[in-house]
Amino acid sequence: MTSITFTDHLGESRVVAANPGDTVMETAVRHGVPGIVAECGGSLSCATCHVIVDPAQADLLDPMDDMEDEMLYGAATERSATSRLSCQIRVGEVDLRVTTPETQV
Ligand code: FES
Repeated sequence: MTSITFTDHLGESRVVAANPGDTVMETAVRHGVPGIVAECGGSLSCATCHVIVDPAQADLLDPMDDMEDEMLYGAATERSATSRLSCQIRVGEVDLRVTTPETQV
């Protein structure tokens, strides 16, 4: 069992338990984390699961594919250097830290 720390744009943090193999989005939805809408349920067609990964951890993740990269340009909050779609991030053995943007829609 690992954990994910979700911090909102105001700096409020919430730490939740995560199962390796699940996605960060699935973990957020299961725990009712505010700030993750996930309208499409993880089918990579909404960009409402946008998160900003802690820059110190960005290199620990598998690189994004072209489709995720393209979808991030349509996110409601402008993407940053370590933006990802949380439905495309698999939980591994490392405790992750992500920030949710001010808005997803
Ligand atoms: Fe829709 Fe991630 S949940 S793109």
